[in-house]
Amino acid sequence: KRVAILISGGGSNMVALVQSMTGDHPARPVLVASNDPAAAGLAKAEGAGIAVAAVDHRPFGADRAAFEARLLRHIEAASPDILCLAGFMRVLTPEFVARFQGRMLNIHPSLLPKYPGLHTHRRAIEAGDAEAGCTVHEVTPVLDDGPILGQARVPVRPGDTADSLAARVLVEEHRLYPAVLRRFALGERGRLDL
Ligand code: GRF
Repeated sequence: KRVAILISGGGSNMVALVQSMTGDHPARPVLVASNDPAAAGLAKAEGAGIAVAAVDHRPFGADRAAFEARLLRHIEAASPDILCLAGFMRVLTPEFVARFQGRMLNIHPSLLPKYPGLHTHRRAIEAGDAEAGCTVHEVTPVLDDGPILGQARVPVRPGDTADSLAARVLVEEHRLYPAVLRRFALGERGRLDL
């Protein structure tokens, strides 16, 4: 299976996914693309010998469709079977999602359906939750919704800040996403709870 990965920043989840696709793995990375030409993850992907692309979303302003049309040219040139959003911070239009629905995954740093959207760790701490974590789900037109393919849980500790909790969750993201992608590439659709 050919996997394209979309990033917006450091791409630590992309690195974990790329490093997992070795040996007899059913998938291989064919493109890393970003909405930010300065995304640090692009250099990491290049260093790993993976094709990269960047389309700066800012010149397009509110015209999401025009931005996505440019991004799609790069994505479709790579002919991916699976699209992984990994720290990708742009909301995609229903039209874009429709092209990949059923083969597009995202990782979200909360135990969905709790805390869709932003600032998930701060919200979990403020709610006094004992647990937090991350979710890999299939992308549907509704933000941070869609069938859950896997979750990983961590304890929230006394004195945790959003940063300390985010760091603990990120370690689990890097375990969960590769494990879910492998199963997804093999055609398995059951839910994986780490
Ligand atoms: C991570 O917290 C991830 O959960 C969220 O974006 C953050 C950065 O991810 N989606 P990465 O290091 O760019 O993969």
